[in-house]
Amino acid sequence: MPDPLETMAARIDGKAFAERLRARIGAAAADFVHTAARRPGLAVVLVGDDAASQVYVGAKGRACEEAGIASFEHRLPATTSAAELLTLVERLNRDGEVDGILVQLPLPQGLDEQAVIAAIDPDKDVDGFHVINAGRLAVGQEGFVPCTPLGCLMLLQDHLGDLSGLEAVVIGRSNIVGKPMAQLLTDANATVTLAHSRTRDLAQVVRRADIVVAAVGRPEMVRGDWIKPGACVIDVGINRLAPTDDKPKGRLVGDVAFAEAAAVAGAITPVPGGVGPMTIAVLLRNTLVAAHRHAGLPPPEGL
Ligand code: GUN
Repeated sequence: MPDPLETMAARIDGKAFAERLRARIGAAAADFVHTAARRPGLAVVLVGDDAASQVYVGAKGRACEEAGIASFEHRLPATTSAAELLTLVERLNRDGEVDGILVQLPLPQGLDEQAVIAAIDPDKDVDGFHVINAGRLAVGQEGFVPCTPLGCLMLLQDHLGDLSGLEAVVIGRSNIVGKPMAQLLTDANATVTLAHSRTRDLAQVVRRADIVVAAVGRPEMVRGDWIKPGACVIDVGINRLAPTDDKPKGRLVGDVAFAEAAAVAGAITPVPGGVGPMTIAVLLRNTLVAAHRHAGLPPPEGL
């Protein structure tokens, strides 16, 4: 019998990595203040009273302040009109203290998300959602890359080093995670397959992967016997299961069946504590990079 401890995958501790990244961002933000005589600034716009969005926006504001980045919060009622929201975005586009603009999604029904994102100055679009930034990523120009996939790439490179020649399978083709993830892995010289709901024999496709990135939003869909022994598994999913007697709030699980996959993989991100904490850390990083560009300074080193 193999020792079960020997066959257990290494945990990729996104929380610890994100804390180290945030500390480096804090130091670089302090240097920026010294040089530019102002703090980097992030404006976060929240429309309506979606409970999860309130939590995220609060967390983003606190993370900014901790890193020495000015946070400008704009909380608007759900009855806000498209014209009012666009007027605010245009004011933030012109505001010299605002380096990054994030409009929290989803927007209340009746507001056109694409139109709002299109109104953000692409050079302040620290979410990387604007079509100009999607296009820049596609053709290899400098822009902003969505925070979650960039955070996943950082974790992969930290754990594996050079990704050249590795087989990567990304499951899920969203504009926010799957597509930019596939592009980042391609740029890092991996051989990339972008799998999705219509992929035939997904299990067999995933079995050839040295790197698996699961971003489908389906609880525990990726099973242990899909994983190639020793593969590196990045789980972007955060799904809350139905409440049970011992977990009255419902258990949080990823898109990967963790215990099964951890018995086969070489390394795996837990849920929670894997990819999640990276998203805010990369948002701060993108804001700091935006501030350097706006001030005409070279990019901060090592970020
Ligand atoms: N809603 C959930 N995640 C995000 C994000 O990363 N950016 C924005 N703008 N909205 C979100």
